[in-house]
Amino acid sequence: MTDRPTGTPPGDRAVRTYGEPGLHPRIEARGLTKRFGGATAVDDVYLTVGPGEVVGLIGPNGAGKTTLFNLLSGALKPDSGELNVNGVRATRLPPHRLAKLGLTRTFQLARELDRLTTLENVLLAAPNHPGETLRGAFFEPRATRRAEVEATVKAREILEIVGLSAKEATLAGHLSGGQKKLLELARCLMVDADTILLDEIAAGVAPHLVEEIAALVERLNREHGTTFVIIEHNVGIIRRLSSRVVVMARGAVLAEGSFADVASNPDVVSSYLGQAA
Ligand SMILES: Nc1ncnc2c1ncn2[C@@H]1O[C@H](COP(=O)(O)OP(=O)(O)OP(=O)(O)O)[C@@H](O)[C@H]1O
Ligand SMILES: [Mg+2]
Repeated sequence: MTDRPTGTPPGDRAVRTYGEPGLHPRIEARGLTKRFGGATAVDDVYLTVGPGEVVGLIGPNGAGKTTLFNLLSGALKPDSGELNVNGVRATRLPPHRLAKLGLTRTFQLARELDRLTTLENVLLAAPNHPGETLRGAFFEPRATRRAEVEATVKAREILEIVGLSAKEATLAGHLSGGQKKLLELARCLMVDADTILLDEIAAGVAPHLVEEIAALVERLNREHGTTFVIIEHNVGIIRRLSSRVVVMARGAVLAEGSFADVASNPDVVSSYLGQAA
């Protein structure tokens, strides 16, 4: 706990930074550690993300970035360490409870969702989506119907925001790779998340859609204050979007700062940027 990587704020100082009543860091991870067998995939990571930040998370293959996302989103439980989300103790909560606290992430679309339309996919992402409880549908049919209509209006607004309105009736399986990424983002927005974790959202996506996704992240951040943590190997996207960059290597935080800071750090260049450039 004492051997913290340079530049990583200790948790207690971070609490004071955002210490005004009601304003907490979106994410506050302290000493998160995850081992697989003998290998430590995430090794004592401290990460504080404030409201409205866009934090770029970079590092070589196998550095532990996705595993860290799995810990932050509740998909994996840490071996040790603590997590607070929006000031609430969130260590070991499952993903749906973290979503209720305002944090969600993009996932690859499950195969069965490919057989639903774009609109249906967005509707299914709604917390307590209409018709979820049989009891509600039987005993409160009018309220259930109203909730369905409201959710559909909201889903259509979101499809408009992400630029997929024209595809609302298209089966998700027939969308291009980039359009599927936009659909994943739309599903995050349906949850009303104030913090979204994006894992390689631009990977394998056609350049014009990469541009669309980047512009959407900027717009959601600017207009709605949405906080993002983005894992991305596309250095141009990281430079463009990130207000701060965190570099991981071998499970640990190697460096942290502005893009210019980390890009001129010799350790970062030798461990990652040298290869990525
Ligand atoms: N479920 C798992 N079981 C065993 N080992 C795992 C598991 N998930 C990840 N690992 C290992 O943990 C380490 C970190 O992997 P992780 O996927 O988090 O890296 P990454 O930084 O996201 O890499 P990439 O840039 O390639 O996506 C790797 O050595 C990986 O093999
Ligand atoms: Mg990964």
